[in-house]
Amino acid sequence: MLFTELRVKNVRNISNINIEPCSSINLFTGSNGSGKTALLEAVHVLARARSFRTPRIKEVIQRDRELLQVSAEVLNSQELKLATGIEKTYGQTTIRFDGKAVKTVSEQAKNIPLVFVTPDSQTLITGSPKDRRHWLDWAMFHVEQEYIFLWRDYQTALRNRNNLLKHENSDSQLLGWEKVMSECATKLNAFRQDFIETFQVFFNQALKNVFPAESRVVLNDGSPPKISLEEYLDGSKEQDRKLGYTRFGPHKADLGFLNGPDYVSTVFSRGQIKRFVLALQVSLACSFESINKEMPILLIDEYSAELDEQTQTEVLAQFKEYKGQVFLTAVETSKVLNVLEGSKVFHVERGNVN
Ligand SMILES: Nc1ncnc2c1ncn2[C@@H]1O[C@H](COP(=O)(O)OP(=O)(O)OP(=O)(O)O)[C@@H](O)[C@H]1O
Ligand SMILES: [Mg+2]
Repeated sequence: MLFTELRVKNVRNISNINIEPCSSINLFTGSNGSGKTALLEAVHVLARARSFRTPRIKEVIQRDRELLQVSAEVLNSQELKLATGIEKTYGQTTIRFDGKAVKTVSEQAKNIPLVFVTPDSQTLITGSPKDRRHWLDWAMFHVEQEYIFLWRDYQTALRNRNNLLKHENSDSQLLGWEKVMSECATKLNAFRQDFIETFQVFFNQALKNVFPAESRVVLNDGSPPKISLEEYLDGSKEQDRKLGYTRFGPHKADLGFLNGPDYVSTVFSRGQIKRFVLALQVSLACSFESINKEMPILLIDEYSAELDEQTQTEVLAQFKEYKGQVFLTAVETSKVLNVLEGSKVFHVERGNVN
């Protein structure tokens, strides 16, 4: 999937632009505040109906304007040409894809597979288990149709069990929800584990020869130690009543990112973490393609920040190898221009692109 044409109207300082990106790397350069991130934000709005910077669309719509519009000509993996567009006012969203109205954001997210990296993406390593679960669940929604239904059923049962634990309750009231939790957990854990195995193959490839030790992703599925979830739920009612919540299960899962024996978060420098996260996201995009047969668009904001010259050259080479379309931003280009042969460089200045 790639964009052959992209039009953006009224997104932050971008009033009206029309560009023709190439099928590989598109680099947007320009000074601070010129509109580089705004351009990536526009692509994100088209694919997900919201910005990656803020949940408030009011901040994204250009000041003194009532609506923003982002549209694109798309070429999919079957070489079919399609048109898509989004229009957002303060209160309303209208999405079209291939001549039809799109009713849900998740439908559009599947229409335009997208993987992005911003300077905030480091929280995947340095943040909380919740950040990593969110990453995993989001990936799972994209690769496994059944996942979202299992996930919802599990969350509902968990919420009900936790509510009951906090109030007057009997074992038999808990039992029904616990049965749903155990059944869903087995399947959720299996889906997650399968995905991590697929992902690991691409991840090994992406970080081959980058760090001296091998990098791995390990799933801690949140299960209780040594016993099954069913046994835990059955035998822990008294203790969980005192605590008022459920201590184990897929809702407590976490991912461990390791390099050799060490957790990356504890031993890597900022630049090394950035390199690691870039590889994670490129591998995620490759995993999506291997399952869904549609190459996601990669958005990388400030790709060069915090990376030395050698590492910048290496990551650019990695983006060049990526078979899909890539949108990058950077404040300057001079040092890396030689790697960018066959790519397009756009200069952004006060919301205009040339
Ligand atoms: N709602 C808005 N309406 C108009 N302009 C806005 C709005 N929100 C932000 N801006 C301006 O849009 C410009 C673009 O910001 P953007 O973050 O895209 O810059 P950038 O090129 O990524 O800069 P940097 O290199 O610092 O990251 C900024 O000058 C900002 O002040
Ligand atoms: Mg920026």
